[in-house]
Amino acid sequence: MKLALLGCGTVGSEVVRLMRMRGDDLAARVGEPIEIAGIAVRRLDRDRSHLPVDPSLFTTDALGLIKRDDVDLVVEVAGGIEPARTWIATALAEGKSVVTANKALLAEDGPALSAAAKAGGADLYYEAAAAAAIPLMRPLRESLHGDKINRVLGIVNGTTNYICSQMSRTGASFSEALAEATDLGYAEADPTADIDGFDAAAKAALIASLAFHTHVDLGEVYREGIRDLKASDIASAASEGRVVKLLCIATREEDGVSVRVHPAMIPATHPLANVDGAYNAVFVEAESAGRLMFYGAGAGGTETASAVLGDIVAVARNKRGGITAFPPEAAYSDLPVKPIGE
Ligand code: NDP
Ligand code: HSE
Repeated sequence: MKLALLGCGTVGSEVVRLMRMRGDDLAARVGEPIEIAGIAVRRLDRDRSHLPVDPSLFTTDALGLIKRDDVDLVVEVAGGIEPARTWIATALAEGKSVVTANKALLAEDGPALSAAAKAGGADLYYEAAAAAAIPLMRPLRESLHGDKINRVLGIVNGTTNYICSQMSRTGASFSEALAEATDLGYAEADPTADIDGFDAAAKAALIASLAFHTHVDLGEVYREGIRDLKASDIASAASEGRVVKLLCIATREEDGVSVRVHPAMIPATHPLANVDGAYNAVFVEAESAGRLMFYGAGAGGTETASAVLGDIVAVARNKRGGITAFPPEAAYSDLPVKPIGE
């Protein structure tokens, strides 16, 4: 089986490294080896000599790579809306299953891409798109499908959590902490997406859509970021025994679903208060399962690549078995999303 890798930055380079390191294990789990057929990048002249891969695999012709007859699966870890949308739509139309970590695109175009996957008889997996290494998408999409989820609450952005933690623990300034998060590979290519809450809002839309079997649009998520967070805010929260966190809160209410992302001062004794660095934690409250907590690395190349590899194994196995996963939108109900502010 051969895959096309689209993007070889923080996440993609770790996908390459882990695929090489665990090649035999992955082959055993799938039932045949998975090879990288090609790697699409923007800059061919970027130094990638540290990667355990034949340099001739790099190309700037992503579409040509996707359409190659010997490519079975497509893994998109480039990010952004275009050309990622065209790449994924092209792959799905050709019946090639796709693994993506691109929450921005999924939040904007998820239903259309799911429909394209269904039409093409292909899979669309995106475990890494929310909360990176933490298995959250598949539990919501599969394991909890027999339950009724009433609320999802948590921290879903690693960069802003890193900033809040560093400002409170080491006294770093906002810009110092953001620079560190960027250096560590946590921030988006444009970190505005993190600090203004767009990344968390996209994840909130994905999470709420799966949890409540409806479609939540990015524009239906109330969003406030932490751009204006100051040392004095952190100090004033601490003086009241509280810490500042950027929270994602999705609630099933009697008349619909409400989804919001905003900073909050939470008691220092709350379990979310001790989620530090780029870690994420998400509580899922379900009628029968009760309160579940998902916790782990919410950003980072290696951690995110772990989730991507899990998806690669899943779609490769499905392909070998001649099946595709049940498309989630087939389960959508008419549960309305409440207008922002209600
Ligand atoms: P990077 O910016 O580090 O890497 C992006 C890669 O995509 C680079 O290799 C770049 O090429 C390539 N690329 C970008 N645009 C194009 C284009 N138009 N044509 C060809 N190649 C292109 O991003 P990350 O690895 O951090 O993130 C990738 C995706 O994973 C994003 O959707 C992000 O939201 C998601 N994600 C990231 C996490 C993280 O912790 N970093 C965690 C979870 C999800 P070149 O190398 O030549 O510049
Ligand atoms: N920029 C994102 C974050 C990457 O910091 O959470 C993981 O999705």
